Amino acid sequence: MVFARSRHAAPAVAGVALLATQLFGVAEAAYYSIETREDILESSRTLAYDMMLFYDGNQTGMTPGILPGPPTEFKGDYYWWEGGAMMGTYIDYWHLTGDASYNHVIMEGMLHQTGDNNDYQPFNHTASLGNDDQGFWGMSAMLAAENRFPNPPEDRPQWLALAQAVWNTQNDPNRHDDFCNGGLRWQIPFSNNGYNYKNTIANAIFFNMGARLARYTDNSTYAEVAERTWDWLWGVEYIDHETWEVYDGGHVEHNCTDINTLTFSYNAGVLAQGAAHMYNYTGGEQKWADRLDNLVESIFNTFFPNDIAFEADCETAQGHCSPDMLSFKGYVHRWLAQVTQLAPYTAERIRPVLRTSAEAAVNQCTGGATGRVCGFYWSGGVFVDPAVDATSGAGEAMDVLAAVSSLLIDWAPAPATAANGGISRGDANAGINGWDGRPPERAPITTGDRAGAAILTILVLGGTLWTFVWMTYFD
Ligand SMILES: *[C@@H]1O[C@H](CO)[C@@H](O)[C@H](O)[C@H]1NC(C)=O
Ligand SMILES: *[C@@H]1O[C@H](CO)[C@@H](O)[C@H](O)[C@H]1NC(C)=O
Ligand SMILES: *[C@@H]1O[C@H](CO)[C@@H](O)[C@H](O)[C@H]1NC(C)=O
Ligand SMILES: *[C@@H]1O[C@H](CO)[C@@H](O)[C@H](O)[C@H]1NC(C)=O
Ligand SMILES: *[C@@H]1O[C@H](CO)[C@@H](O)[C@H](O)[C@H]1NC(C)=O
Repeated sequence: MVFARSRHAAPAVAGVALLATQLFGVAEAAYYSIETREDILESSRTLAYDMMLFYDGNQTGMTPGILPGPPTEFKGDYYWWEGGAMMGTYIDYWHLTGDASYNHVIMEGMLHQTGDNNDYQPFNHTASLGNDDQGFWGMSAMLAAENRFPNPPEDRPQWLALAQAVWNTQNDPNRHDDFCNGGLRWQIPFSNNGYNYKNTIANAIFFNMGARLARYTDNSTYAEVAERTWDWLWGVEYIDHETWEVYDGGHVEHNCTDINTLTFSYNAGVLAQGAAHMYNYTGGEQKWADRLDNLVESIFNTFFPNDIAFEADCETAQGHCSPDMLSFKGYVHRWLAQVTQLAPYTAERIRPVLRTSAEAAVNQCTGGATGRVCGFYWSGGVFVDPAVDATSGAGEAMDVLAAVSSLLIDWAPAPATAANGGISRGDANAGINGWDGRPPERAPITTGDRAGAAILTILVLGGTLWTFVWMTYFD
């Protein structure tokens, strides 16, 4: 979801804000403590409460499952996928803390957004439906099965079946073609901008879900497809063969060799979590341990300077991260925490980094009227109002909630499998013969959509500022 929709916000205002913070910002007394397990529980509870204030999906007349948005309809800062990511954050929150206060909200949201075919392709969100967007909801359904989240009512689709439905639609031959030797495209409907982009996140999530389904169901088909997907990502060199940095993607008209080398933490993070599932599923194969170790080191090198989460390619200046990007730190914390359960030998390496990072996260939560609102700039040590990034702060709040609650991982059960504690009913054929990605009937395109689409096209095709300039003046 990220690349084309990145918003290169006017840095001038943000720069002034940054300067002001640096000149006058004084670290306030920390509101949150994460010293003891009790402190972490208490802090998580408050962070979860505050994060929920951004969600209006359970209010009368509002749509369950989504954060205010999408921006293309001027309804708020957040695209559809981020609601799915939020659902996952609270599925983990419950798993880690035992606090079921929000389970009803999550159950309702997860079930409202399944779409008519119960495969997380709701008609309303066709215009922003990437394989990655669908995949984020799929990963939350998978997580619900792994965490033994309460099952939906009998007459509703079940968590494992929903995850299988997402995987089945993405495994459909219609979604794979020979451009670039295979791989999924970013967008699902071919009329969407970005259909010509084969990116890492779409394929990495498909890999991730295959690995997790293999481990949960012990069905080797998922593992075989996951490994093929890994091999493809390696083959097109979206994973750097030297540094293990994970790049964003490339275009079919260039055989995917025009690699956009921007790195985002969630690309590497979702691969690391998938590799850990493969490691665990294969009973500890060295090959997967090596891949996992290399990814973890690359994540720490690029995204955790001084052991504090840092969204490297946009955080270097305030106002440059899009609302999407502002939420990645939290996923990476949650995924790496799960890695320590699946590949226990990594815990010694990962645990202290997540702890240092979480401390930095809470130390800057000193803003707003409550004195505990969180910003995004963890390494700075002072609260920076999310307004500098032109957001309301939901991603920023979700990141800190995830970082803090994930510190409870050692007390939480490892992800279940069907043979070991799982309670979710699957359906290997879910989603098959559903919507195949051909364009559905769509509402007439509005002028606003067209303008947005033009900008997206430029960003997608551009890839660099120079191309952007070139296209603006010579197109
Ligand atoms: C929405 O959920 C929150 C959190 O559980 C709760 O406090 C609030 O009362 C709910 N609102 C409605 C209208 O149900
Ligand atoms: C689709 O949009 C309509 C109108 O806003 C809303 O009532 C409905 O709940 C939405 N469906 C989903 C799955 O979001
Ligand atoms: C496209 O790239 C792949 C490697 O990803 C290579 O095997 C293939 O030969 C290339 N195809 C063309 C037409 O250059
Ligand atoms: C797989 O995960 C389980 C659950 O955490 C763990 O007990 C087991 O040791 C892991 N397997 C390997 C090979 O590390
Ligand atoms: C394993 O998964 C594949 C892919 O979904 C499916 O076709 C097959 O029926 C499954 N096998 C079993 C034994 O469930």
